[in-house]
Amino acid sequence: MDDNFDALIADIERKKSEEERRIYSERTLKEAYNPRNVGKLADPSGRARITGPCGDTMQIDIRVEAGRISDCKFITDGCGASIACGSVVTELAKGERIEKALEVTEKDVLRVLGGLPAENVHCAALAVKTLRAAIGDYQCRSRNRSASEPEISA
Ligand code: FES
Repeated sequence: MDDNFDALIADIERKKSEEERRIYSERTLKEAYNPRNVGKLADPSGRARITGPCGDTMQIDIRVEAGRISDCKFITDGCGASIACGSVVTELAKGERIEKALEVTEKDVLRVLGGLPAENVHCAALAVKTLRAAIGDYQCRSRNRSASEPEISA
């Protein structure tokens, strides 16, 4: 009985992974199963949380030092493709100047992943949109900080 059950589970697992390999690129599966930069930053320079049209949410935190994104983390309750996109978009942004990170596009994410099925392209859009919003939040915080700093007269 136990042997039959184990064989059944092994068969289901094998079919599932065959199906995934048929649909997703090797890189997408790698990023989805071993994502980089997962988590939240304590006291981030910028943070954004966006819910996409599918109802899934992504949050990205960035730390900015000397105009560069020194650290970047994401969390999502979305699909495997969104996990892969969060992993890639945070890697693309890390170490970049904020102006450069703002130029990261959905196409860049798709290129790194080797493409996604049409029904998952919005997952890349969600990741890019969230990164841009986190940078926007950082820029907004910076403006508010400099507006509230007292002017020093000579
Ligand atoms: Fe919702 Fe991928 S982010 S389906």
